[in-house]
Amino acid sequence: MSEERVASRTAVLVCLGRAAADGRLAVGHFTDPVAADLLTVEERVVLDQVRAGTPPQGWAERSTYESVRACAEIIAPRTVAIDDAIRSHPHLQLVVLGAGLDTRAWRMPELVDVDVTEIDHPASQRDKRARIGERPALARTFRFQPVDLAVDDLAAGLEASGHDGDVPTTWLWEGVLPYLTRRDIVATLRAIGDRSARGSTLIVNYQTPSLRARAGRLVVGTLARLGRTATITANEPWRTLLTAEQLSGLLANAGFGVQHDDDLLSIAERIGSEARVRTSLRNGRVAVAARH
Ligand SMILES: C[S@@+](CC[C@H](N)C(=O)[O-])C[C@H]1O[C@@H](n2cnc3c(N)ncnc32)[C@H](O)[C@@H]1O
Repeated sequence: MSEERVASRTAVLVCLGRAAADGRLAVGHFTDPVAADLLTVEERVVLDQVRAGTPPQGWAERSTYESVRACAEIIAPRTVAIDDAIRSHPHLQLVVLGAGLDTRAWRMPELVDVDVTEIDHPASQRDKRARIGERPALARTFRFQPVDLAVDDLAAGLEASGHDGDVPTTWLWEGVLPYLTRRDIVATLRAIGDRSARGSTLIVNYQTPSLRARAGRLVVGTLARLGRTATITANEPWRTLLTAEQLSGLLANAGFGVQHDDDLLSIAERIGSEARVRTSLRNGRVAVAARH
């Protein structure tokens, strides 16, 4: 296992986004009262600034502030779409792949009869364990299973976690595909397909290719290097962006048929959530697929 890697910082960014959105964005649709509890004292400084709408002085601080503010806008519709998909496919097993600081097992009462397993890179999972501490999950059972999707055998990890391939599963793969190679995505999908009883549900959040989004990341990265500061996402480059057609083809090869696939901008507009970062929202999608 590639233990030398440090815990994911993008997982912290997304958690900051959820904490910043809670009670402010998509009110009546989105809430995450657990996210803020997972943050360190230092991380809460920028959280408080975003929640108060008071940007800090200094380029690096301002850049982090803007990242968290934008992330909150993206994360509200993304969470609403995924939570809705989990509720409308009430299987007895939920496996969260690349879980990061996901809070669903601790905040969704709908999971009270569900066996939840979180799969993540070992370094990120260690960080999650430290942050969540002894807080009891609401889920029927909860398990952490460390798996590096670029190195380890996911099927073996699922077997070790007690996952039952004969019982339909909801699989959640949120915000992880961009960080994997296409080869690792295909291998992960094969393992998921092999362990999915008929009727299982796969929920995938992914990024579509966009020149504008790529240029934006390039500009932020270059400015950070010039200013000798690190952006919050610096060590986690995007590796794979997929069109809806490409994703649908990959899912079909793993035995899944797409039921619906929506962009975050449409979801944000439907639920009346703030949508200033329109390009980012347009390029983020949530697909829901069923195992034939
Ligand atoms: C942007 S975070 C998303 C976390 C969470 N799914 C969410 O939406 O809040 C990306 C996650 O992908 C995980 N990840 C990236 N590469 C991975 C790998 N090779 N194996 C397992 N997990 C990986 C990171 O550890 C991190 O938790």
